Amino acid sequence: MSNSTLKTYYIITYGCQMNEHDSENLAGMLENNGWIPAENEEEAQLIIMNTCSVRENADNRFYGTLGQFKKRKTEDPDFILCVTGCMPQQEKVQREIREHFGWVDILFGTQTLREFPQLLEARLRTGKKQISILADNPVLPKEEGAKRMHKHKAFVNITYGCNNFCTYCIVPYTRGREKSRSLESVVQEVRELASEGVVEISLLGQNVNSFRDGEGNTFPDLLRALDGIPGIERIRFMTSNPKDLSEELIACFRDLSHLCRHIHLPVQSGSSRILKRMNRRYDRERYLDVVRRLREACPDIAITTDIIVGFPGETEEDFLETVSLVREVRYDAAFTFIYSPREGTPAATFPDQIPEDVKHDRLNRLNEAVNEGAYAHNKALEGLTLPVLVDGKSRRDDRFYQGRTDGFKLVNFKADRDYTGEIVPVHLTECKTFSLNGEVEA
Ligand code: 5AD
Ligand code: SF4
Repeated sequence: MSNSTLKTYYIITYGCQMNEHDSENLAGMLENNGWIPAENEEEAQLIIMNTCSVRENADNRFYGTLGQFKKRKTEDPDFILCVTGCMPQQEKVQREIREHFGWVDILFGTQTLREFPQLLEARLRTGKKQISILADNPVLPKEEGAKRMHKHKAFVNITYGCNNFCTYCIVPYTRGREKSRSLESVVQEVRELASEGVVEISLLGQNVNSFRDGEGNTFPDLLRALDGIPGIERIRFMTSNPKDLSEELIACFRDLSHLCRHIHLPVQSGSSRILKRMNRRYDRERYLDVVRRLREACPDIAITTDIIVGFPGETEEDFLETVSLVREVRYDAAFTFIYSPREGTPAATFPDQIPEDVKHDRLNRLNEAVNEGAYAHNKALEGLTLPVLVDGKSRRDDRFYQGRTDGFKLVNFKADRDYTGEIVPVHLTECKTFSLNGEVEA
């Protein structure tokens, strides 16, 4: 049971890397104010739920978890429950929480993250509920004081929000309009990270390709500036929209020595007709052309993607075009999703919604095609020795360590000592669809 004299916290994070990094920032704010991490949820005096609203099953899980805290709150009035992230950015959710989940103490959104210490102070001082949500904050948040999950790798925000308005997606409504940080401030942050021992950075944005700062610097300019920072061995980024993928960015994969040979390039559908209805602003041919040019510039680049099946109006023929695109590209991996209508987005009101059983059947068939490609790519690596950045012990089996190759492949390997944070050569002995096994080369 919780001990009310101890200031212990626990953060539950759903959703994307953007949220994971927001949670690191929240942890930093708490620890600056004397809070310490709890071992688990049960022992925490304060819990933050950092939520995602990108798909419907996220909603159900969210309300389920929120409901479970009622008992906890009744038994321990000093327990503090905070809710943030993309869920409370929706008015419908704010209403729902006010009407049915009165035990939430602090409700704040993605745009008011930095207000959290003040909200918490006010809640502790007055005992009153605190709510602060803004639809779109024109002010860029300060990037400082995060408590990073790892010592050797770090997330770095470069843009916030999204201007694309794909017709299925709720993000432009929950994360606001797109804003870029300045190249200078990103470079400064990465220099500091390098001086603290970080060797890998992951640049985050809903669409990093459209990064453009007040001085007119573009995303390739930023990559070139970061490539020269001593100590930074690996640079990753996500996510990039194929419509904005420039020739200069493709050239970066050829020219920059620290840019990882991996790109996450969400295609969403292989049917130009569906892509148009999704408002993606590229078609099948243009996407395939981008892939071709990327592979020309960087032959062993790993390509991963996101795909949605069962978008309103998707016929069997449209779906088969997606399968054929997957076979043609041969992705290294893909996140595949069943379309889920999000209230407030255009596609939720499209008349021709697809029945659930059809969506599930398509998802299964799509996954088979994705897995064939992933297996073929991975199998080709068997017998090779690749540099792996070691993240730590495997969660499943603590005799093993885990890390990633340059191409973002998950590698499990036996090691004689703890190599966490180092880049070590691993001989790949067995390569499967979702992971590779190997041994450290002496
Ligand atoms: N339904 C299903 N999948 C979605 N995604 C975004 N919105 C939806 C939705 N309404 C998927 C997209 C995106 C990934 C992060 O989530 O594939 O790239
Ligand atoms: Fe991330 Fe989008 Fe989910 Fe928000 S809705 S947490 S931006 S994936």
